[in-house]
Amino acid sequence: MIKAKREVEALTRYVAPLEGRRPMLRLDFNENTVGPSPRVVEAIRQLPPQEYATYPEYEGLVEAYAEFVNVPPEHVAAFNGVDGAIHAIFDAFGEKGDIFLTTIPTFGYYRPCALQHGMVLEEVPYEMDLSYPLDEVKKRLRENPRLFFICNPNNPTGTLIEPDEILELARLASETLIVVDELYVSFTGKSVIPQALTYENVIALQSLSKAAGIAGLRLGFAIGPPRLVELVSRVTGPYDINAFAVAAGKAALSDRGYIDLYVEEVKKAKEWSIEQLKNFGIKYFSDGGNFLLVWPPDDCEKIVSALRNEGILVRSMKGKPLIDGSFRLTIGTREQMKRFFEVFLRLLKTQ
Ligand SMILES: Cc1ncc(COP(=O)(O)O)c(C=O)c1O
Repeated sequence: MIKAKREVEALTRYVAPLEGRRPMLRLDFNENTVGPSPRVVEAIRQLPPQEYATYPEYEGLVEAYAEFVNVPPEHVAAFNGVDGAIHAIFDAFGEKGDIFLTTIPTFGYYRPCALQHGMVLEEVPYEMDLSYPLDEVKKRLRENPRLFFICNPNNPTGTLIEPDEILELARLASETLIVVDELYVSFTGKSVIPQALTYENVIALQSLSKAAGIAGLRLGFAIGPPRLVELVSRVTGPYDINAFAVAAGKAALSDRGYIDLYVEEVKKAKEWSIEQLKNFGIKYFSDGGNFLLVWPPDDCEKIVSALRNEGILVRSMKGKPLIDGSFRLTIGTREQMKRFFEVFLRLLKTQ
């Protein structure tokens, strides 16, 4: 029998429940719930068939993102989603036996990437009130881990810390590569960029999957010192990003107004949703990002499945430390949240 690497044999596959979601109200994956700018749709329509037959060209893509975040282009590299960037970071820096430090619960893809490289996992739990375990993380950073990931705001808790606090951690641990996953930065406005550009050990990750609404096309970016960004780019394939993503990405970045409008709508919808939760005495936790955690008074699994039967998807946090018994609710538009609460409150009454 042919065996994979020992680490891979021991791994369980990272699978997300992604099938059959199209007809539903999708409040389960923190995506944009209305879709991207019309310019994106137009750009894809305009792609002549010869573009399908040709390997993609990347000219102008990194420059467009650099301009979007107002940094020089040599600080930016593009990847097949931030997932692609995360994988590449572990490929480039994840050495067997070295420490990978992060918090728990956090984004689920870091763990398999660390394990497949034989890294030693150190996962510091969030505090009981879901605030960031800053003191414990500082302590662990003294052991000079090889890699440290901070998801800010954290998916799934939403926990958000100030960029200055992250940069203080980076100063404490100059031998550690600090990766700041800023997937939800459009909703918080809090980034380590541009300050982190002068640090030799900090990379920020941002994506067009969420506010920009092109999760299906897969386009993410790493921003950091040119040397680090170049090292991470060495381990990817030459055509990892496809031609549709390139066209769509440039079009999305040309329409900042559309992204801003969506973010404003989500912020209003989030405020409104929190009011509902307060009014009805339902336990929740909300900090940064286009999502929050809800603890239904009754059995969480039952309500998640009843919502699904009504055509509404939310993400159960079953089995996750500290947040078991809750579900993660993506915030869409006010209209969509109204629909969610109508159904949710009715189900709570009848359960
Ligand atoms: C914190 C975090 N990082 C990374 C990703 C993956 O992003 P992308 O779609 O750009 O691969 C997600 C997706 O949900 C996420 O929540």
